[in-house]
Amino acid sequence: MNKKDLDRIRTYVEGDFFYYDSVGSTNTEAMRHTDAKDKSLFIAEKQTNGRGRKNRSWEASSGGIYMTILLKPEKISGDISALTLAAGLAAARAIPDAMIKWPNDIILGEKKVAGILTETRIFGESCVIAVGIGINANNKAFSEDLEDKATSIYLYSGNVQDKASLISKVYCEFLELYEDFKSGFSKIREEYSKKCITLNREIMVISDGKERVMYASSINEKGELLVVSDGKTEVINSGEVSVRGLLGYAK
Ligand code: BTN
Repeated sequence: MNKKDLDRIRTYVEGDFFYYDSVGSTNTEAMRHTDAKDKSLFIAEKQTNGRGRKNRSWEASSGGIYMTILLKPEKISGDISALTLAAGLAAARAIPDAMIKWPNDIILGEKKVAGILTETRIFGESCVIAVGIGINANNKAFSEDLEDKATSIYLYSGNVQDKASLISKVYCEFLELYEDFKSGFSKIREEYSKKCITLNREIMVISDGKERVMYASSINEKGELLVVSDGKTEVINSGEVSVRGLLGYAK
């Protein structure tokens, strides 16, 4: 991105703005700058040590968007894990045709186009939250082990993306959803559920090394997934289990 692009992004940022040509991880940078203002934005052209959920790494092929929003709430009333779902919805709002695989994989077609990693640090009574968002915007290829599962907006649509516009849009959508989220996930549950491809189908629930086919019926007011098997409903929390479609990565 050039200076004009960065100036354009800066006009939307309510906190401080940090830009890196290359950095280990924008989430790590955000946590190094916990003295920065609430709603600060950290973006990088490239990450050398990008991190994903479940201690996985996040591929740094060029053309991607790597951004972290630093939040310093005075008090947070909603459940913080549901904040990750709000970030997923922000990305899904900003990417045409995108859907969400619960809890927060953003899907285009049947492949993953974006992911969210939220990290929290508690300081006595207050806390700092780094909401990291990785979007495959203009990536032209992925490593062999990812190519069946990952796509980019460019590969899906054939159009080169204006990264500055996309970053600004995701940032603004997220701040809007964050305001709603302050009164609980329930306010955004309906919109999230409409975009969630995990719902109303049989899915594979994986926990403690066991795989079970269950029917995903709904998302509750905490952002947890309700699954049904043999007439019994279970509540599953994003930290404990993985879900997979029966027909492939997403479906
Ligand atoms: C996932 O595993 O789906 C989450 C991926 C999150 C990647 C983003 S890229 C910006 C931020 N910095 C990181 O190191 N990770 C997140």
